[in-house]
Amino acid sequence: LLTVPPALSARVVGSFAYLTIRDRLPTILTKAVDSIHRHKDKFFEQHGEEGIRAEKAAIALLSKLRNELQTDKPVLALSDELEDADAWNRYLQRHQNLQGDQDSVSWFKSPWLYVECYMYRRIQEALWLNPPISDFDVFNEAKTQSYFESQRAVMALCTYLEGLRKSIEGLPDNQLLDHFGKLLQVSLWGNKCDLSISAGQENSQKVSPLDSLDDLRPYILVDDFSSVWSALILGRNQSGPGRVDIVLDNAGFELTTDLVLADFLVSSGLARTVRFHGKSMPWFVSDVTARDFQWTIRQTMAANHMWMSKSGVQWQSYVQEGTWTYHDHPFWTQPHQFCDMASDAADLYADLQGAALVLFKGDLNYRKLTGDLDWEPTVGFDVALQGFGPAPLCSLRTLKANVQVGLQPGQAEKLSAHHPDWMTSGKYAVVQFHSPHSD
Ligand code: F6P
Ligand code: MG
Repeated sequence: LLTVPPALSARVVGSFAYLTIRDRLPTILTKAVDSIHRHKDKFFEQHGEEGIRAEKAAIALLSKLRNELQTDKPVLALSDELEDADAWNRYLQRHQNLQGDQDSVSWFKSPWLYVECYMYRRIQEALWLNPPISDFDVFNEAKTQSYFESQRAVMALCTYLEGLRKSIEGLPDNQLLDHFGKLLQVSLWGNKCDLSISAGQENSQKVSPLDSLDDLRPYILVDDFSSVWSALILGRNQSGPGRVDIVLDNAGFELTTDLVLADFLVSSGLARTVRFHGKSMPWFVSDVTARDFQWTIRQTMAANHMWMSKSGVQWQSYVQEGTWTYHDHPFWTQPHQFCDMASDAADLYADLQGAALVLFKGDLNYRKLTGDLDWEPTVGFDVALQGFGPAPLCSLRTLKANVQVGLQPGQAEKLSAHHPDWMTSGKYAVVQFHSPHSD
């Protein structure tokens, strides 16, 4: 019988969870406050005195939040009226009942995944309670800056894509496989560029990763690429190109790598449609919201670079004709493990069941796939998924948290001996596949 390990938690002093809550999260909150403050004049222009009042009130709430976190206060129920508030409060209640003590659900004592998600939800609450600025995205500046800083890499990718588009019709499968492999790896390494691990510090892609894929290959600890390819090809050969879902992670360079991959999937006939899943509120600093998704396509269209703007125009028409669709189910911004999806978000689970392949981008999605538990690294990915498997799925993730499964015996020990921070540096990655059809 499987004994489920404990959740990662800041309770373990010195752990990555502990350091994140002690150091990284307060820095992120300070940056959120700074961003609101810098927009003071704009709020005044738009809303007059009411804008200034909202700016002050939101900052006061975020400062209070930072204080609660730093002094390990009990987690409080949400007081806004956003549609997911009840679900959050019920979740908190369940945790309190489990612990048998109201005050024991706190920043440093509770599961890391839960409190980290909760912080982002509280940021949303602070804004929501101050209506004139409730849709202000405190991370917007950081996201757009990181997009602009990776322009050269984006140009290189779009140029590659354009070259490919010209010759794509009738390409034999072995050549499609080669291109798919490359673009999947580009999308994988795009995940290095998230602004949560860097606590909002600049973390963009300066050069095209296409040229360094061979050098990066040894850093892929688990590479199930061939199973991903087989799932796509098998589906296509049996019933024609199907739907690929991409559960997005970060805006900026990573999103562009995902759009390029999605473009290739559609234009090569490997997929008929692509559904993108993003976040319904600003999340983990750089995660994609609907606004980021639209903004990125518009920016790419408007770029002063022929192949970039051509790609942007193509992407816009994919959206207009419904070949690409964007969705933001509230489940993605709740603290649940994905094995809870079938019961807690049955509609989303049923929806994902219609996909030929679901790609989960990034570290946070990996934490949720594996429940953010302290698994032995040799435990199978299928075991850690704890029954989650709506469709063939693949995690594309650079390692930025202390959870990793599916390694060979001795592999983790060897890594630890040479690179003590292998799990959290973002230098290593996995392409990990699971299919419910092979259970
Ligand atoms: O704060 C750290 C963290 O939660 C790590 O899990 C990870 O480094 C990051 O946030 C999110 O990473 P990603 O953008 O790849 O999901
Ligand atoms: Mg992210």
